[in-house]
Amino acid sequence: MNVHAIILAAGEGKRMKSARPKVLHAVGGVPMLGRVLAATRAAGIRKSHVVLGVGAEAVRAWLENQSGQDGVDIAVQQPPLGTAHAVAQALPQVPDSALALVLYGDVPLIRPETLRALASAAREGLALVTTELSTPAGYGRILRGADGGVTGIVEDKDASPSERAIREVNTGLLAAPARRLKRWIKHVGNRNAQGEYYLTDVVALAAADGVAIKTVTATPEEVEGVNDRAQLARLERRFQIAQAEALMREGLSLADPARFDLRGTLSFGRDVFIDVGCVLEGAIELGDDVYIGPHCVLREVKLGAGTRVEACSVLESAVAGRDCRIGPFARLRPAATLADEVHVGNFVEVKKVRLGRGSKANHLAYLGDGEVGAGVNLGAGTIFCNYDGANKHLTVIEDEAFIGSDTQLVAPVRVGRGATIGAGSTITKDVPPGGLTLCRAREQKTYPHWKRPRKQG
Ligand code: UD1
Ligand code: CA
Repeated sequence: MNVHAIILAAGEGKRMKSARPKVLHAVGGVPMLGRVLAATRAAGIRKSHVVLGVGAEAVRAWLENQSGQDGVDIAVQQPPLGTAHAVAQALPQVPDSALALVLYGDVPLIRPETLRALASAAREGLALVTTELSTPAGYGRILRGADGGVTGIVEDKDASPSERAIREVNTGLLAAPARRLKRWIKHVGNRNAQGEYYLTDVVALAAADGVAIKTVTATPEEVEGVNDRAQLARLERRFQIAQAEALMREGLSLADPARFDLRGTLSFGRDVFIDVGCVLEGAIELGDDVYIGPHCVLREVKLGAGTRVEACSVLESAVAGRDCRIGPFARLRPAATLADEVHVGNFVEVKKVRLGRGSKANHLAYLGDGEVGAGVNLGAGTIFCNYDGANKHLTVIEDEAFIGSDTQLVAPVRVGRGATIGAGSTITKDVPPGGLTLCRAREQKTYPHWKRPRKQG
C-alpha cells in the first residue's frame, strides 16, 4: 500500500520563545523537520505532507533549499484548532487508497524501523505508537478494555484520577488507511477541556467501528518531543552520545564521547583520534591516523592520512594532504589547500591559498589569495597584502623560496624560485629567482647620545 506521511508542525511552539519556527531548530545540525523527513525516506515513504501554521513561509523557504524534497507538500492550518483539525488540512491531498501515517515535526529522533512497524501494524485498521513513562503527566493516556485491547485515549486535562495513574501514553504518532481516517476525523468534535479537535478521539471511533487497534511500543527517548530549549539540549546530547557510540563501534577513537559534537557526517580511516571539545560540522573526511587536538572546530574539511591538527584550531572548507601539521591556534579559511607535509603553525591564517608540498608557515602570518610552491619557508610575521581596499590580488611564491620574518608581500606580486627575502621587507615588485632581495632602511644606525623622552611635570 502506498504510504503518505502527515507531519504536524502547526503548533505555535511558544515555549521556545523564538522567532524561528520550532521545527527549524536543529538536532545534530539538521532541523528537526529535516530529521523526520529523512526518517520517512529511510522507511521508504515517498510522499509527505507538512502541516504548518505561523512561520510557514520560513519552513517553505528552508524546504525549497533542500535537495530531494520533491515528495514534500505543504498544508497550512491557521489557526491551530487541534491535532485532528491539523490532519484534516492535509487529508484531501492523500488518496483514499493510501495508508496515512501521522508524525510530529518536533519528534526528531523517530527511527525508520518504528515507522515501518507502524505502517505494517495499520494495514487492517488503526495503529498507535505508545510508550511507558514513569511520570506520564501531560500526555494522553491509553485506555484498554478487559481483554487488553485499546478502547480509547484520554487527554491529561480530561482524565479522571484513576486514568491519570495509567503510565502507557500516546506519543501522538499513528497510522490508518486514509479512507477510514477521513471518515473518523469528520466525526471528531471539540467538546473537551481545551476546546480542541483531538486526533486522539479517532481511537474511540475506531473501537466503536469494531476496527482492530494495534500498538507499536517505542522507548521514551525515541519519541520525546521538543517543547522548549532545555528539552532540545537534552535531545541533542542524547543524539550526540548515540552518534559517538556508533562511530566508536566503527573504530573512531574519542577522548570523551560526552564532549564530542558532530553536526554532519564524518568518514574516517583507521586509528583516527579526536580529543575533547571538538565541533565538527558538514561533511568531514579524515584519513588514517589523523589526530585532532582538543577544542578544534572543523567545518567541511578533508584531511589526509597522518595529519595532525593541534589544539584550538579552526578549519573551514579546507583540504590538507598527508602528514601535515596544523596549529595549535591555526585558522584555515575557505579554499586553504595544503599539499602533503605542510606546516601551518600558531596564529597563522590561510585563506584561498594553495601551499605546495613541505612548505611551512610556522608562526604569526596572514596568507590570503595566493599560490605557494613546494619547500617554501614563510617566516614569522609574513603577510600577503592581498586587498587594496577594493580588489583582491594574488601573491605567487615559487618553489624553495625563503621569506624572511616580518615581510609584507604587496599583491599582485611574484617571488621567483629559490629567492630569499630579507627580514622586514616590504615587497612591492616581482622578485627574481635566487639571490637575496631586501627592502628596508639602507643601513643600521646608532645614536649614542640619544635620550629617552621623560614624563612632563
Ligand atoms: C498530543 C496528544 C497527546 C499525546 C501528546 C504527545 C492530542 C489531542 N493529544 O498532545 O495524546 O500524549 O501529543 O506529545 O493529539 N499541532 C498542530 N496543530 C494543532 C495542534 C498541534 O499542527 O492545532 C502539532 C504540534 O505542532 C505538535 C503536535 O501537533 O507537533 C502535538 O501538539 P501538542 O500541542 O504538543 O499536543 P499535546 O497537547 O502535547
Ligand atoms: Ca507536546
